Amino acid sequence: MICLGIESTAHTFGVGIVNSKGQILANEKATFRSERAGIKPQEASQFLMKNAQTVIERALKCANLKITDISIFAFAQGPGLGPCLKVGATAARTLALIHNKPLVPVNHCVAHIEIGKLTTHAKDPVVVYVSGGNTQIIALEGERYRVFGETLDIGLGNMLDSFGRKLGLGFPAGPMLDEMYFEGKQYIELPYTVKGTDLAFAGLQTAAEKLIGKARKEDLVYSLLHNAFAMLTEVTERALAYTEREEVLLVGGVASSKALRTMLERMCKERNAKLFVPKQEFCVDNGAMIAWLGMLEHTHGISIPLEETGVRQKLRIEETEVKWS
Ligand code: FE2
Repeated sequence: MICLGIESTAHTFGVGIVNSKGQILANEKATFRSERAGIKPQEASQFLMKNAQTVIERALKCANLKITDISIFAFAQGPGLGPCLKVGATAARTLALIHNKPLVPVNHCVAHIEIGKLTTHAKDPVVVYVSGGNTQIIALEGERYRVFGETLDIGLGNMLDSFGRKLGLGFPAGPMLDEMYFEGKQYIELPYTVKGTDLAFAGLQTAAEKLIGKARKEDLVYSLLHNAFAMLTEVTERALAYTEREEVLLVGGVASSKALRTMLERMCKERNAKLFVPKQEFCVDNGAMIAWLGMLEHTHGISIPLEETGVRQKLRIEETEVKWS
């Protein structure tokens, strides 16, 4: 059995193809970049639409398959930006209808975790999910992923991008900020906001932005990242202790931050826990994760009537039943 999955929750149109053994046969994508301001949903969705066909064709070519070889079509139902979600949903729905194959809508957040588990062999981890719009610490309980702690305002990735823009860096600013972090020499006092098991980044961002031009750039970036990542590490450590787990799985676009990995790695070592980080192509938004979750759902008998496959911008991770663990 072969599943083709389409990711289009934000800036990436991704197409992945996997088989039922969990082999990834293709993982192609086109990513919208904007030098000016963050993502404008309409602009991004037009980019996704323009690139949809080419990326699907590229994925099929890479897997050496024809569209008629595909047994299941999956797409990211949410959460995400409405206009962008609709591009992937429409493409997947059309393909499923034309070829008379099952259509599986999947939860983007769950997909990040499942591709992480598949590719790193983590078994039952505390998941740290950090991307542009999402910042959550998650663990499986019963048949649902439960959110142990999360941001109360903005996603960590969006905070970094928006701070980077103020500094005059392009999008995405994350990798450049990460380099500057290691050039920081002096810590500057900034807000550190952990409320129970939740976090908040807006106050930290505002305070740091007020110091632009007044402090050495690298020191400011070092202090901002230091606080943000230390907050995340603190909540993750609490989650490990509370859930008695021994594994941490870091997923989402911000997982590529070396500074964050280093901090989490140190905490895990002290607790005798193990940190798992998927390869970069599986950390960022990608089609393979959608295809793999589509495969898991389909092979565990989950089927959703076509009329209930509409996109859901605010879909929560707890809403998805996990039958395959
Ligand atoms: Fe994502």
